[in-house]
Parts: sequence; structure tokens; C-alpha cells
Amino acid sequence: MLFAVHLLLLLAGPLSVAGKQLQPEHGVEDHHANSSRQALLGAAEGSPSLRIAPGNTDFALNLYHLVSSQRAGQNIFFSPLSISAGLAMLSLGARSHTKDQILKHLGFNLTQLPEPTIHQGFRHLLHKLGHPSSGMEAHLGSSLFLSQDLELVPAFLNDTAAFYNASVFHANFREPVEAARLINEHVREGTRGKISDLIANLSPSTQLVLVNYIYFKALWEKPFPLFKTKPSDFHVDENTVIQVPMMIQEREMHRYFHDRHLPCSVLHLDYKGGALALLILPDPGKMAEVEEVLTPEMLRRWNRLLHKLGPGRKLELHFPKFSITTSYVLDQILPLLGFTDLLSPQADFSGIIKQGHLQVPKGFHKATLDVNEFGTEAAAATSFVAFLSAVRKDPHVLKFNRPFLMAILSPDKHNILFLGKIVNPLKL
Ligand SMILES: *[C@@H]1O[C@H](CO)[C@@H](O)[C@H](O)[C@H]1NC(C)=O
Ligand SMILES: *[C@@H]1O[C@H](CO)[C@@H](O)[C@H](O)[C@H]1NC(C)=O
Ligand SMILES: *[C@@H]1O[C@H](CO)[C@@H](O)[C@H](O)[C@H]1NC(C)=O
Ligand SMILES: *[C@@H]1O[C@H](CO)[C@@H](O)[C@H](O)[C@H]1NC(C)=O
Repeated sequence: MLFAVHLLLLLAGPLSVAGKQLQPEHGVEDHHANSSRQALLGAAEGSPSLRIAPGNTDFALNLYHLVSSQRAGQNIFFSPLSISAGLAMLSLGARSHTKDQILKHLGFNLTQLPEPTIHQGFRHLLHKLGHPSSGMEAHLGSSLFLSQDLELVPAFLNDTAAFYNASVFHANFREPVEAARLINEHVREGTRGKISDLIANLSPSTQLVLVNYIYFKALWEKPFPLFKTKPSDFHVDENTVIQVPMMIQEREMHRYFHDRHLPCSVLHLDYKGGALALLILPDPGKMAEVEEVLTPEMLRRWNRLLHKLGPGRKLELHFPKFSITTSYVLDQILPLLGFTDLLSPQADFSGIIKQGHLQVPKGFHKATLDVNEFGTEAAAATSFVAFLSAVRKDPHVLKFNRPFLMAILSPDKHNILFLGKIVNPLKL
């Protein structure tokens, strides 16, 4: 006899670029990068996390373009890596066509990249991210919440723990409010309080909930002096001007250029700990034109060009201080990206439960982004600025006072932790 099981896939991704709360002791472990943890990974040649990067980038941009086409003129912000990892983890319990479809639409060519390599790639990447370095804290976590009367296939439990470091919890879904509270509390802890209400309500027939979250916090390598921040105009579109707190750096060295072939400027902002932000500022009114050519090849081209610029040039940089939260219902989006099995009665998740039929997974993704100055170094920066401004001649200026694109890259520079378009920094 078949019974139906409801699976929920929840993904959360807060990004906090706010440094003051960082605990300095996180830097300590840095010196042991080579120790037992590294051995545990079996980190072999051709780093597995690099091998999954091209697929992850393809998926990230496919998802971006779909969301952008559905939400014209709105802020976009999500963690493609968290969504990829969640779906790859789900694929561990999928069988036959369903499994192939998930992995294929995640951007992986199974001829070139056998399934075990994909999971090893995520394991490697998760371990590298989870390894704290000074100035940066990143953690991608996974959890399974299941009802007591559900019998999971042991290999699924094993594999999700081994590759995705997933923890398993029991929940009583017959008390949906209580179960939702338990899950939300768990996500709140995993995201250091940044995402507190991932799910609003839960069906009493739910039997399995799969949660992925990513937490990332980093300090700018070159912080913005606090006292310089002041309200400035931000041109949301031709007819809308708002006032935002604008952070200003006057004379720092950065890698940036104006694209000779496209109407946009491109800038690298480094974080301490190795991650970096790739910022793309279209010329006024040119966002659509730039989005149109936003491909993995274009990202690689921009990165290559920026890299060639060495230590960079002096820049007067204006960048808004803001905080946004976005959420997406993945089960409405993913089928449009080719994940059609996920929503169909033919979906084969026989690798997750022993008997019965697992119903349509529901997926939610929520992400928040905070950007600020990291003001602790403001005093030191002040005198520096004053000194240099005396010799300033022809300053190069970049004002992020209109919609822009933002990608946060992992410290290996190959995976997109977060991707977004900031249209209106005041829209939460
Ligand atoms: C890293 O580990 C290898 C093998 O365990 C060892 O030979 C090497 O000396 C270590 N390097 C550092 C910097 O600890
Ligand atoms: C997958 O890789 C194989 C071998 O490199 C190649 O022949 C095939 O065209 C690729 N498939 C897709 C869909 O790219
Ligand atoms: C794995 O999960 C445990 C418990 O959530 C956590 O303490 C640990 O840091 C995680 N490991 C990695 C490498 O993320
Ligand atoms: C799960 O892992 C344990 C310990 O690693 C192993 O002994 C067991 O055979 C595994 N079970 C399955 C079903 O893979």
C-alpha cells in the first residue's frame, strides 16, 4: 500500500557584510588548514570543488535570468550555491530519470563528471567554506526533519551526513505550528539570527523537511570610513530618486574598469579571508542591455580583465549601505528551469523512503544581505584620506547611485555564493 509523504525543501541564505561582531578567535584555526580536516576530505588532485564550479555557475545564471524575467524592476538576491547544494543533496535519494534530471539541470554533465565526483565536490567545498579564516565566517548547513513514523533508507541518511554534513531531527508534523517553530528556530541558530521565519505554515501531512542554509559574514579588506557616510540620491529608474545612506572611500586602490564593449563599469571589492564581491554598474538606463549578456563566459571575462589590473588604481567609490531580504518559492521556479520531475507524480524518490510515494517537494529560499562600512578602522583611514586628497589630481570615480549587479564569490573565486541585482536599496 502506498502512502504519500510530503517533502519540503527549504533553503536560506543570509549574507552579512558587517564586521564588528566577528569573533577574532575564528582566525586561529587558519594555521591548521593542512591538518586532520584536510586529510578527512581526501583532497586529491584537480580539487573536486573546482570541478563542480562550472556547473554551479551555469545554474546560478540560469536561475538569475528566470527570476529577473519574472520580477522586472525588483531586487533580486539569492544563494545559488545553497540551492545547488540542497538539490544535489535531494538527488542522493532520487532514482532513475528523476536523479539524472536534477543533476543535469544543476549544470553537470554526467559523462564528464560522474555522480560521486559531484557529491565529493560539494563536500570539499562545504568543508573549505566551513573552515573559518580571519575576517570571514562562512557556513553552509543542511538538516533533515522527519516524522517518527517515516522510515528512511539508511544509505540516504549516511550519504547526506557524509557529503552534506546533514543533521537529522525528529519533528511531529501533526502539530504543524510546533514543527514549523522547531525548524525556524534551527535555521535561526544556523544563520546567527539573520533568518528567523523561514516557514510560515506547514501542512500536517508533511513528513520530511529538508533545510539548507548558508551563512556568510566578512569584513571588507578596505573598510569605508564611518564618518563619510551621508544621505545621497539613488536613481531607482528614470523617474524615481530616493535618498540612501551612501558610504564613501576617497583614495583606496581597487581593481576596476569601464568595459570598452559594454555600457558598464566593473569592480572587485575584496573581503578579508579571500572572498570577493564582483560589482557591475551599468551606465544609466543600461541595466537590461548588461543583463542580456550576463553569462558565465562574461563573468569569467570580467574576472580575467580585473585580475590583469594587478593591485588596481586609486578610486573614489560611493557605495550604498543597505539591507535587503528576498524570498522565493522554488517549487514554482524550478520546473521552469527543466526540473519537471520534481513536481510530477512520476518523481522517483525511492532512495529516500522505504515504502510509499514521496510527494512533490516544496521549496523555499530566503536570503538577506547587509552591507555596511565596518567602521572600526575609520579613525586610521581619516588621516590617510586627508593626506592623499592634497595630491589628488584627476580622480577616478564610481558612484553606485543606480541599480547594479552583485556577485559574492567564494575564496577559491570559482563558486558564486550569492548573486543579485540591487534596484532599490531601501526596499527590504
Ligand atoms: C601539510 O601536510 C603534508 C602531508 O601531511 C605535510 O608533508 C606538510 O609538511 C604539511 N604542510 C604544512 C605547512 O603544515
Ligand atoms: C557531455 O560530455 C560529453 C563528453 O565530453 C559530450 O560528448 C556531450 O556532448 C556533453 N553533453 C552535453 C549535454 O553537453
Ligand atoms: C557539520 O555540522 C556540525 C553540526 O551542525 C557543525 O558543528 C560542523 O561545524 C559542520 N562541519 C562543517 C565542516 O561544516
Ligand atoms: C552507513 O555508514 C556506516 C558507517 O560509516 C557503515 O557502516 C554502513 O554500512 C553505512 N550504511 C549504508 C546503508 O550505507
